Amino acid sequence: MPIRAWFPTFIYSEPLQRGGQARFNSALAKECRQLREFDAAGRAWSTQNYPGGYTSYGSMAQLQKFSSTFAALEKKLAPHVRAFARRLDFDLRGREFHLTDCWVNIMPPSAAHSLHLHPLSFISGTYYVVTPPGCPGLKFEDPRLDRFMAAPPRRPAASGENRTHVTYPAEAGKVILFESWLRHEVPPNRIEAERISISFNYNWT
Ligand code: NI
Repeated sequence: MPIRAWFPTFIYSEPLQRGGQARFNSALAKECRQLREFDAAGRAWSTQNYPGGYTSYGSMAQLQKFSSTFAALEKKLAPHVRAFARRLDFDLRGREFHLTDCWVNIMPPSAAHSLHLHPLSFISGTYYVVTPPGCPGLKFEDPRLDRFMAAPPRRPAASGENRTHVTYPAEAGKVILFESWLRHEVPPNRIEAERISISFNYNWT
């Protein structure tokens, strides 16, 4: 082939575990809803920064240190992060990666999460806990979008690798991992049920 693709952007998507996810997710969902109830500071922060929804990002962002259920999630995530880091050819010999932040996002009807990235980390991701049918997925943007300048628009039937956006559906039990610099958003929740996810950041030392 005279043409090869270089500088790819990888996104990882896998079930967290092979079985028992319904029970694990119902334990997580219960804790997420309890947290929303008790976390007045988080609710106030969300009013300003996460309109219509609840996130513990501004109040309780290290849940793996306070809850055995979230600590169990940390343990289950580790092999996925290791596999992703290996695919990225990161040299972590003699190094360790750490879950630095882990927080809850609850999106009731009409809540959205605008385009953002995750500073101060190298791998970030989301785990889906409650995903009613029709709830929004996770939309990623081509990191080179601001450099396309005079490029013509892509054909509607452009191959996957040439698309400027890709959306991963939110599916309970699935883990999605991406490099933290990759911008993403969650479009508005247009259904009459709430969506619950847990987001997290990894750093390395
Ligand atoms: Ni995010």
